Amino acid sequence: MLIDTYGRVATDLRVSLTDRCNLRCTYCMPEEGLQWLAKPDLLTDEEIVRLVRVGVTSLGITEVRFTGGEPLLRPGLVSVVERCAALEPRPRMSLTTNGIGLKRTAAALKAAGLDRVNVSLDTLRPDVFKTLTRRDRHKDVLDGLRAARDAGLTPVKVNSVLMPGLNDDEAPELLAWAVDHGYELRFIEQMPLDAQHGWKRDGMITAGDILASLRTRFALTAEDEDERGSAPAERWTVDGGPHRVGVIASVTRPFCQACDRTRLTADGQVRTCLFAQEETDLRGALRSGAPDEEIARIWKLAMWGKKAGSGLDDPAFLQPDRPMSAIGG
Ligand code: GTP
Ligand code: 5AD
Ligand code: SF4
Repeated sequence: MLIDTYGRVATDLRVSLTDRCNLRCTYCMPEEGLQWLAKPDLLTDEEIVRLVRVGVTSLGITEVRFTGGEPLLRPGLVSVVERCAALEPRPRMSLTTNGIGLKRTAAALKAAGLDRVNVSLDTLRPDVFKTLTRRDRHKDVLDGLRAARDAGLTPVKVNSVLMPGLNDDEAPELLAWAVDHGYELRFIEQMPLDAQHGWKRDGMITAGDILASLRTRFALTAEDEDERGSAPAERWTVDGGPHRVGVIASVTRPFCQACDRTRLTADGQVRTCLFAQEETDLRGALRSGAPDEEIARIWKLAMWGKKAGSGLDDPAFLQPDRPMSAIGG
């Protein structure tokens, strides 16, 4: 079991498959991209499956989420999913993606054993999409979303980050569209995890702003707290249901006390939190021939050191060295 000193148990493993991405969202990375990890530094497909196996068979992991960067850029993704689906006990598996390429791969991912996907889409306006992501790929994302739904990778969730002056007027429009298409929309507060270190608390759109904007057009009823469990999203039913909308308010309403996550970066480092300053190397242990028991021991020790919270409210808060795309979203 991956337990920390606050009694939280991590059952949800987030695995970053690559730090690369084919978009350049302004709240994430600069136009020129980043200094990508070198190929030999990335975990191989075999190493990823082995770590998931240790997590599932020895450490109580029940949920696995593949993230990036953009995980669909990883050539071995379908095969990794297939091999993880064969593990006993079989973990539930999901993917967080920008949706580009999903049209081509959704059916194969479903067949391989993926349960569901979360797709990032911040705007319904192609020109705003181009400004926000610096790429003209809006239609590819919409096609990917449809393909995911048609393939049964459901519930399909859509993640939206609102940026002042760009898409902050779009919340009601996005919700009407999501309800119409059967996607579960969640708004995410912008977090200080961008490579450029340009985040400012004063400049961000808060959960309060988002709810006020949605309430101009919809009646929202808060879901019971006990239904939330350890999910980062607080949810509301829309106009009496059954549709729901979520807000992930990592900054203004942190949910760290219920966190059930452990993370693996694409280069095989355990992170206890998105905002952790420390990482624990598992790749070195793997490559020096450590047995499963030793890998499990190192992982448990790392999680025991998990901090109480993100530290965002601490005046001495320091943004982690690695940006979100390199940590795994
Ligand atoms: P499901 O609701 O089970 O689909 O998972 P999820 O919402 O965690 O998945 P997703 O990968 O779509 O994450 C959405 C956003 O939640 C991320 O971009 C983060 O903003 C936020 N998030 C995920 N994990 C954490 C975490 O450990 N801490 C914080 N503060 N935010 C997180
Ligand atoms: N703050 C909040 N969300 C972010 N994402 C990427 N960078 C940030 C950030 N700095 C979002 C992506 C995606 C999800 C995994 O995280 O848009 O939906
Ligand atoms: Fe790519 Fe996601 Fe970063 Fe956008 S937020 S550039 S989609 S990794």
